Amino acid sequence: MTSVGNTSAANLPPGDVRVDIDRLVARIEALAEIGAVEGPDGARGCARLALTDADRDARDLVVGWMTDLGLDIEVDAVGNVFGTCRGSQPELAVVMTGSHIDTVRTGGRFDGNLGVLAGLEVIETLITNDITPARSITVAFFTDEEGARFAPDMLGSLVYVGGMPLEQALDVEAVDDHQRLGDELLRIGYAGTLPCPGASFPHRFVELHIEQGPILEDEAIEIGVVEGVQGISWTQLVISGQSAHAGTTPMRLRHDPGYVAAEIVGFVRRLAGELGGDQVATVGRIELDPNLVNVIPRSATITLDVRNTDEPTLQVAERRIADEVARVAAAEGVRVESTTLARFEPVNFDPAMIDLVEQTASTLGYSTRRMSSGAGHDAQMLARVCPTSMIFVPSANGLSHNLAEFTAPADLERGANVLLHVILALARQNESA
Ligand code: GLV
Ligand code: MN
Ligand code: MN
Repeated sequence: MTSVGNTSAANLPPGDVRVDIDRLVARIEALAEIGAVEGPDGARGCARLALTDADRDARDLVVGWMTDLGLDIEVDAVGNVFGTCRGSQPELAVVMTGSHIDTVRTGGRFDGNLGVLAGLEVIETLITNDITPARSITVAFFTDEEGARFAPDMLGSLVYVGGMPLEQALDVEAVDDHQRLGDELLRIGYAGTLPCPGASFPHRFVELHIEQGPILEDEAIEIGVVEGVQGISWTQLVISGQSAHAGTTPMRLRHDPGYVAAEIVGFVRRLAGELGGDQVATVGRIELDPNLVNVIPRSATITLDVRNTDEPTLQVAERRIADEVARVAAAEGVRVESTTLARFEPVNFDPAMIDLVEQTASTLGYSTRRMSSGAGHDAQMLARVCPTSMIFVPSANGLSHNLAEFTAPADLERGANVLLHVILALARQNESA
């Protein structure tokens, strides 16, 4: 479903303003310097895992920009940060935008950061043009969207909407150094006082994000109109067997967790191919202990990331994997401890919000395509409490969760302009004359 909009001054929305792309790019570049990492090929990305020192420094920078813009800044008990620009009728529910500024360990400069900084750019554009809509506008960044240090992903927005009790979230342990999330929040100074779940929820939520996949670039489409987010299932398997000498132990007498892990890796790949459609399945982490050339491992830890836009098929995939894990473990005589790290059903965004994004992009003259999101987003949590949608811009070579992640300034500008005019339209809803 592709449409090409036509630009003419006559059918642009009222308040025909545009973002300042140089200002937006300058902020993206400055934020990307915090936790910057360079790959062997020269690609420069970010390692800013949630609630690390780098995350704290990035939070401080963004909060500084919010302060410069005169926003009211609030932090909730799970470390979500909200910067609000007051409207002319502050008693009306706010329009919220935003995303996250944590990254995976090999992350890019745009994932999440774009949505937050484009929100600030929208506010600065409105201030510069002396536009004060009725509703206040809040730019949020949510804690631990990536889930790469503390599972599940989208943890901060999940707690904000009441999908996970605060105490449970504060007790989550980091996968790397086993620090408690609540302790890390205190350590970096972002254990705020606003209650979780939120005391009130926004009128509407809209998030701008890079696509993180290849579709928009492949089809030369400028704006992705996001209809929903696919379901996600994360599982950790700890496989325990018998460590022994690699040279002396006959094959028939082994209880080898490494072999079982490898069988599971092959199985999930074949299963995704067999189920077809939108089914994807990934083993992103494999750790053998003790991980030595001449030792049968005593344990293997692996993670499974299984996703589908169709919930029944996702459940079929989960059952088939569980059956195969049990079968191969029994045959090899190893034990398996399975832990669900994250499980979210597919989410459909609000039809009127989807239409608003599509119409706004077309009115601005941008080509559009409706699509679902393969990646998880804070917007899927906000969709539980208010009408929500997302705007995608293309990712060069479809790369994300990769140091080389890139979106060209012209694409960033288009996405931010759609965000600007969607927010402006929403912030004027129910405006009294
Ligand atoms: C979050 O970025 C996810 O989709 O894994
Ligand atoms: Mn993201
Ligand atoms: Mn991400």
